[in-house]
Amino acid sequence: MVKSWRIPALASRPGPRSPLPRGAGSPMVPGMTSTFVTLPEIRQAARRRLPREVYNFGAGGAETETTLRRNRRALSRLAIRQHILVDVRKIDLETTLLGVPLSWPVAVAPMGGLVMFHPDGDVEMARGASQADTLLFLSGATGWPVEDVAAASTAPRMFQLYHHGDRAWVADLLARVEASGYLAVCLTVDVQVYGRRERDILGRWDPRAAMSKAPNPRGPDPEYQARLTWDDVAWLKKTTRLPIGLKGIMTAEDARRAVEAGVGLIWVSNHGGRQLDQTQPTIDALPAVVEAVAGRASIVVDGGFSRGTDVIKALALGADVVAIGRTVLWGLGADGADGVACALDILRTELRTSLALCGQTRVKDLSPDLLVSVS
Ligand SMILES: Cc1cc2nc3c(=O)[nH]c(=O)nc-3n(C[C@H](O)[C@H](O)[C@H](O)COP(=O)(O)O)c2cc1C
Repeated sequence: MVKSWRIPALASRPGPRSPLPRGAGSPMVPGMTSTFVTLPEIRQAARRRLPREVYNFGAGGAETETTLRRNRRALSRLAIRQHILVDVRKIDLETTLLGVPLSWPVAVAPMGGLVMFHPDGDVEMARGASQADTLLFLSGATGWPVEDVAAASTAPRMFQLYHHGDRAWVADLLARVEASGYLAVCLTVDVQVYGRRERDILGRWDPRAAMSKAPNPRGPDPEYQARLTWDDVAWLKKTTRLPIGLKGIMTAEDARRAVEAGVGLIWVSNHGGRQLDQTQPTIDALPAVVEAVAGRASIVVDGGFSRGTDVIKALALGADVVAIGRTVLWGLGADGADGVACALDILRTELRTSLALCGQTRVKDLSPDLLVSVS
């Protein structure tokens, strides 16, 4: 059952829409009323609005948060080499993922616990992603029936799977996922056990208790996730007719093995620094995975991507789509579906602007020679 809900006005929310343009060629999202004009502004609004432990649950990472910081640091160590005197009046953002046409190469990453950020949780996120015509990955830890989220979305959608227990239960869920128009299933493979997120632990706060407010809460079964092996990938392949992906691949060896097992989507991710601490930044892991996959599967990457220029770097290194977690989550926390659409719209404007400024007109043409390492 989808509730209708409006977020109360933020005391510090900006007034009427700023006369300043968002950027060159900003495609305004129809019906969007959020008036935020930069991504940091959205994050600040979410931080003011959300209870401290909820903000920390979203923002935090595991243990020393080194992985979390490395994702960002590695991105800033890559510089873009700009080219001039190119006609950039038209910028083509279109791409495909697993053969699905997308209006731009960005997706909303799967996130559980959205009910803490907005009472309508995943349904509200789906509305916002659709408003901004952006591919949505629904979390397998969703507390909403997959059918309700499908009913709220008009943009392409894919499903992220956690094993919640026995195979019969998963097979039944997958049949519902297929019937509700999700276009792929991505098994998350980096949650063998739950990472030690010290912000939550120190606050003596259990996110699972807060998540139980969703209509149908069901978290991943910790024991089953720890048992997952390549046999489960083979089983998944037999059980669904949808293309399958693996989320949480960080090495060329695992990527190669996944492709050989018939996996069509390789997702380079360290779970936004929330699982294994002290691992590689995803932008550094990406090139070896791209080389190992050698065009035999689609590639998604995530982890710290929060600006249009970050997206350019990932595409230049061979990703087909960049998934965005927290940057969109802050939109949900700040202003519900409108905040999500606004965050995505600003990101798309940044992407267009930066592509023009580095003399590129098609996201599909980006290549590694666009980048250079800086200290
Ligand atoms: C609040 C939150 C909940 C998440 N829940 C899930 C989940 O249910 N399944 C999953 O595969 N990844 C989950 N992730 C990881 C994201 O899908 C993604 O890998 C990560 O957030 C990307 O990094 P970014 O937030 O820096 O963009 C979650 C991330 C956050 C921030």
